[in-house]
Amino acid sequence: MNLIEKIKEKRELSYVDDALVREYIEEYFKRNPGEKEKVEAGEKKAVKKILKSVRNSLRLVYGSFLSRDYLKMDEKLDELKKKIDTGNTEDALEMHKEILRLHASTRERLSFYKDFFEEIFALTGKPSSILDIGAGLNPVAYPFMGLSDVEYNAYELNSKDAAFIQKYFDIMKIDGKAEKMDITKDVPSVRADVCFALKLVDIVDNKTVERVVRGLDVKFIAASFPTKTVSLRRMNVVRRGGFQRMLARQGLSYEKIEFENELVYVIKK
Ligand SMILES: C[S@@+](CC[C@H](N)C(=O)[O-])C[C@H]1O[C@@H](n2cnc3c(N)ncnc32)[C@H](O)[C@@H]1O
Repeated sequence: MNLIEKIKEKRELSYVDDALVREYIEEYFKRNPGEKEKVEAGEKKAVKKILKSVRNSLRLVYGSFLSRDYLKMDEKLDELKKKIDTGNTEDALEMHKEILRLHASTRERLSFYKDFFEEIFALTGKPSSILDIGAGLNPVAYPFMGLSDVEYNAYELNSKDAAFIQKYFDIMKIDGKAEKMDITKDVPSVRADVCFALKLVDIVDNKTVERVVRGLDVKFIAASFPTKTVSLRRMNVVRRGGFQRMLARQGLSYEKIEFENELVYVIKK
């Protein structure tokens, strides 16, 4: 039995890089001594357990794309290109919204995206360069940023997502680069005025967050936490406390902006 293939049978996980799935499998075996032998022997209960655990972890870090259906996403990009090429700006904006609806994080901001960036940039000033880590589909919110000339660097865990964002930048003729990067292993070295780390802090470990915040060569970091449900709000109170203490340790000041389902820390570096 090929465990990687089995894990990826779930549609929403079918596009995750094999290497990432392999890492999660190895991590699971490390955390659960004795399970490897059972899984390799094909013990049904053990197999069921690892499938469930690894899939859950992947869903957590990977965010909830409603369906990572790249065929559909590519079609939408092609449609967007047509609208852009024919100068149909109103329809182009509608296409943007359709793409942003494909990922839970961006969909949840659709009703306030314009205010979202306006309020962040009121604190940071209008950036001429942006870094977006764990970007998801957020770069596609570009029309809501109210920027005319910007250098945009986006990093994503999954190479297919990075390729999608790159294609978007090319269609929009944005001076942008999207690349695969696992921030638990690397810190982007590119300089920027503002770094977005949206809904990322609560899904990577504290050490990584501290290392990344320390290492980024940017003027401001906009880091956010989801607050959509009461349980998320409660869970994140603990994470946010640790996050604030880490910022204090680094002598960094910040302001908070609260939106209906997201809390943003605008941190001055
Ligand atoms: C909850 S989503 C948020 C997406 C986007 N920042 C937003 O708020 O619209 C988290 C994103 O972080 C990415 N991610 C998770 N772990 C990561 C890591 N170690 N390195 C880089 N990206 C990561 C996921 O693939 C996913 O796209």
